[in-house]
Amino acid sequence: MTQHVHNLGEQDSLFRQLMAEIRDAELQRDSMRFRRNLERAGEIFAYEISKQLEYVDREVTTPLGQARCRVLREQPVLANILRAGLPLHQGLLNYFDRAENSFISAYRKHEGDEDAFEVEIEYLSSPSVDGKTVILCDPMLATGSSMVLAYRALLERGTPGHTHVVVVIASTQGLEFARANLPDNVTFWVGAIDNELTPRKYIVPGLGDAGDLAYGAKD
Ligand code: URA
Repeated sequence: MTQHVHNLGEQDSLFRQLMAEIRDAELQRDSMRFRRNLERAGEIFAYEISKQLEYVDREVTTPLGQARCRVLREQPVLANILRAGLPLHQGLLNYFDRAENSFISAYRKHEGDEDAFEVEIEYLSSPSVDGKTVILCDPMLATGSSMVLAYRALLERGTPGHTHVVVVIASTQGLEFARANLPDNVTFWVGAIDNELTPRKYIVPGLGDAGDLAYGAKD
């Protein structure tokens, strides 16, 4: 495993304050603020990832002359796992504002045993990702299986040149699983790594159910 893992929560910055808000059960009662905070996290991830992308020279005409500028060689493809990934995706898109977009639905299908589930991929909407830089996001990496299955679903649209996986909170176990089951040309960007998973595979202390907090409970 040679993938890099960048943990933005490792040092003091405004990102840490944002993580405190995102985790705070009291503040989470304001679902608009919760969605917006995930979006703001996506914006910060986008900026950090942008430092690792390729740039080319561009001469830009200003009202007073010519400026030599540097611009992205190409826009990434942004991909998210529905539905919890949507606010984080929007934050990434605010910065990579000409990106193409992919949507993958993954859900936990519980059968019989309350705690046991299989992750099922039901829907993929994506342009070709062949040879492109992909940024694949989901706020929570609990077991890691949705992320791995979502990545494999994207392979139906080609093989990415490089993939950045963006996660707000990862469990230690989920990160290990994803690293072991995704190729070497994947870079991980996380906001925090928590050690514990409940029997129902929720991250502890985590933040709760990101999809429900952003969009309401489901049947
Ligand atoms: N999905 C969530 O929304 N929260 C978790 O803790 C784990 C998976």
